[in-house]
Amino acid sequence: MKTTLLAVAAAATLAFAPAHAQAPGSKLKVGLMLPATGTFAALGNAIENGFKLYVTEQGGKLGGRDIEYVKVDDESDPAKATDNVNKLIKRDNVDVIVGTVHSGVAMAMAKVAKDTGTLLMVPNAGADAVTGPMCAQNIFRSSFTNYQPGYAMGEVVAKKGHKNVVTITWKYAAGDESVKGFKEAFEKGGGKVLKDLSLPFPGVEFQALLTEIASLKPDAVYTFFAGGGAVKFVKDYAAAGLKGKIPLYGAGFLTDGTLEAQGADAEGLFTALHYADSLNTPRDNAFRLAYAKTYKLQPDVYAVQGYDAAQMLAVGLNAVKGDTTKKAEIAAAIRKAKIDSPRGAFTVSANHNPVQDFYLRQVVKGENKSVGIASKALVDPGRGCKM
Ligand code: BEZ
Repeated sequence: MKTTLLAVAAAATLAFAPAHAQAPGSKLKVGLMLPATGTFAALGNAIENGFKLYVTEQGGKLGGRDIEYVKVDDESDPAKATDNVNKLIKRDNVDVIVGTVHSGVAMAMAKVAKDTGTLLMVPNAGADAVTGPMCAQNIFRSSFTNYQPGYAMGEVVAKKGHKNVVTITWKYAAGDESVKGFKEAFEKGGGKVLKDLSLPFPGVEFQALLTEIASLKPDAVYTFFAGGGAVKFVKDYAAAGLKGKIPLYGAGFLTDGTLEAQGADAEGLFTALHYADSLNTPRDNAFRLAYAKTYKLQPDVYAVQGYDAAQMLAVGLNAVKGDTTKKAEIAAAIRKAKIDSPRGAFTVSANHNPVQDFYLRQVVKGENKSVGIASKALVDPGRGCKM
């Protein structure tokens, strides 16, 4: 009789145990799903560096738990994304996923995270839908929505008095949404977009499109490219003789983490982003010194976003003593936190996206120098998010 009661009690406990119940003192399994190959490989590397730097600064623990990393190269390939994220959740039993760079891959990740309730920290991909219609209690972003830098630059280009603009980007969510954000602000400011040009991701055959820009003769060009593609675009723009003739503006990814390779061809370019090289605040200086010492590299926006993904996760996990099953408490803690970021402190909006300043930056002597604020405390509208 006694045995039967015990067995019933044990079965009842199991039935009500949350999915992935955690053994006390067990390691926190973090799945890093980032690109290690392709045009965004350097971005993935910087995110991983930034994330690990913050964890190291916390003595190797988050929420009181030691960390074990499991890594997957997502190749910035949306077709492989669902399988990759399912492997991390079902085969490797991770407690939290950190990823990724590419918007198309991130949307597939967000769907699985939402369906399974797995914690997801997005350290770059700006897909508006992730914190829009796909938003969820267990999904957070430490970076931006594609709308945000596009919108900030649209305001700037309109204020500079440009009237007719051509846009050029990769044809996928990030490019389309960046251009859409730009247009929203630029048209509000009285500007007109003459033509939207694009090529498939991650193509770099820009020649025919640059010839078309030359013949359209706009007042200015707005662009979204990042990583290896951004390096090639800036160089090709100059080689086509357009630099100095038709001003080129971009979401800041155009010149972030790319300046060494772009050299003189990037000098003078204006971009908008939530980070810059010359903020010269005690917080940013300490971060840049620690990053440079650890990795023998200068940090960029991707490193900051990785670092802040770890900070946001720490805020949530510290509130629940590392118990990742307590999703509502984790979300409540992150929503009321002020994240002490190297970019400047930020909060997250109701849809779990940073509310942050966008700097207007100009490339001066190989640095993205902040020359002002393009848009103050810019909030993503979180269109379609119901939580
Ligand atoms: C994106 O796909 O969302 C993205 C990729 C690189 C830089 C910024 C955004």
